[in-house]
Amino acid sequence: MVREYWVKDLSLASRGRLQIEWAERHMPVLLRIREMFEKEKPLKGITVGACLHVTKETAVLVRTLKAGGAEVYLCASNPLSTQDEVAAALVEDGIHVFAWRGMSTEEYYSAIAHVISAEPDVTIDDGADLVTTLHKLARGEKTMETEIAKKVTGELDFEKLISKVRGGTEETTTGVTRLRAMARAGMLRYPIIAVNDAYTKYLFDNRYGTGQSTIDGILRATNILLAGKVVVVAGYGWVGRGIAMRARGMGARVIVTEVNPIRALEALYDGFEVMPMSKAAEIGDVFITATGNIKVIRKEHMEKMKDGAILCNAGHFNVEVWIPDLEELAIEKREIRPNVVEYRLKNGKRLYLLGEGRLVNLVCAEGHPSEVMDMSFANQALSVRYLVEHGKEMRPDVYRVPAEIDELVARLKLECLGVEIDTLTPEQERYLKSWEMGTI
Ligand code: NAI
Repeated sequence: MVREYWVKDLSLASRGRLQIEWAERHMPVLLRIREMFEKEKPLKGITVGACLHVTKETAVLVRTLKAGGAEVYLCASNPLSTQDEVAAALVEDGIHVFAWRGMSTEEYYSAIAHVISAEPDVTIDDGADLVTTLHKLARGEKTMETEIAKKVTGELDFEKLISKVRGGTEETTTGVTRLRAMARAGMLRYPIIAVNDAYTKYLFDNRYGTGQSTIDGILRATNILLAGKVVVVAGYGWVGRGIAMRARGMGARVIVTEVNPIRALEALYDGFEVMPMSKAAEIGDVFITATGNIKVIRKEHMEKMKDGAILCNAGHFNVEVWIPDLEELAIEKREIRPNVVEYRLKNGKRLYLLGEGRLVNLVCAEGHPSEVMDMSFANQALSVRYLVEHGKEMRPDVYRVPAEIDELVARLKLECLGVEIDTLTPEQERYLKSWEMGTI
C-alpha cells in the first residue's frame, strides 16, 4: 500500500520544529539559497526523491527544496539515524516522510519503495541505496530489495520511471564509490553529481563534521575519559583524519591503520603511530573504523583485544566491524547502557559495541553539526537546481560538483561568517598566467 507519509508519532512535531529552528540558526548559506529559491522557484513542478539521514539539518535542506517549488519525498538512509521529532515536523510541513528510528530491513526498503513510487525527477542519495534499488527494479532483478519494494509499488513501469529521472546527487564517499562502479560497468542510467567530492563538502563535513560528531557519539554512549586512552582509527581518509585529530585533542594516544601507503605515511608525518590492525588490536582501548570497507575488524582482531575494548564505526555501512564474527565469538550479550552492547567472549574478555556498529555519530549522537551541513546541503540544493536545468543534456556518469557552485558555497559561507579575503590585482593575475618573469 502506498502511503502519503510513514513516521513514528506526529505528536512529536512541536519538538521537531524547535530542533529545526535551532539548525536553521546555524545554516545561513542554505537560508540564503532558500530566499533565492522562494523568489525564482527553480524547482517548480519537480518531484525530488531523497534518501538521507532524517535529521534537523536534512529538514532545512528539504524545506529549502520545497521553497523552490519541489514536491519532496524523503526516506531514511539508515535504519537507526532518524530523529523522529524532526520527521513528524516535516510531515506537518507537507514533506512526504517515510522514516523512523529503529526500522527493520523490510521497513527500510519499503520506505525507499515509497520514494520510488513518487516517480522522482531528481534523486538525492546518501550511500546509494535509493539509486541502486531503482536500477535493480528497472533491470528486472529479483533481489531482497526489489522483492520488498514491489510489495509497495506493485508492478510499475520501472523502465519509464527511470527514464524520467533527470539526474541525482550523492552525499557520501561510499555512495560515490558504488555509483562509480555502476558507471564503470555501464549500468548507470542517469547522471549523478558527487556532492561528496566538492571541496566545500569533504574538507569540512567528512573531516571536521565527522571528526567532532564521532567523538560526541562515543562520549554520549559511554561517558568514558578519552585522555590517556589508546584510540585506534582505521582508515586515514577525510573522515579518519578528522577523528584522529579530535581524539588526539582530547588527550588520547592515537594509532592509525591504513592499506594505502601514501595515506599511512601522511598519518605518520601528522604525528600518529601507524601499524597493522593485528598489532593495534592488542593495545587499543577504543576502535573506530572509517574506511568505507568491509570486515576491517574481524574475528582474528577481536580475539586479541583487551578486556573492555570499545568498538564502533563511522563509515557508512555496518560492515566495517564484522558483527557476525562478534556474535560467533560471544557466549553472552547484554545491553549495558543505551547504544552499548557488551559481548562476553569465550576467552572471558568483554568487548563493547556502540550503536550496533552503525554510524556512531548519527546513532549515538545527532550527526554532524549544522554549521558543516550548511555547506554540504548548499551544494545539494544548488546541484539539484543544476540537474533540473542541465540533467537531460548530461550523459549517465558520475560528475563533480560544478566548480562555480563549490566556489559560491565557500564565498557565501565566508560572507555569512563575516570573513573577508584578498583579491588578485590585475598584475598578479597576469603574473600567475605567465612564464616570463623569474627572480628580480
Ligand atoms: P576516503 O576514501 O577518503 O578514506 C578511506 C580510507 O580508508 C582510505 O585512505 C583507504 O585507503 C582506507 N582503507 C580502506 N580499506 C582499509 C582497511 N581495510 N584498513 C585500513 N584502512 C583502509 O573516505 P572518507 O571520505 O574518509 O569516508 C570513509 C567512510 O566514512 C565512507 O564510508 C563514507 O561514506 C563515510 N562517511 C561517514 C560520515 C558520517 O557521518 N559518519 C560522513 C562522511 C563520510
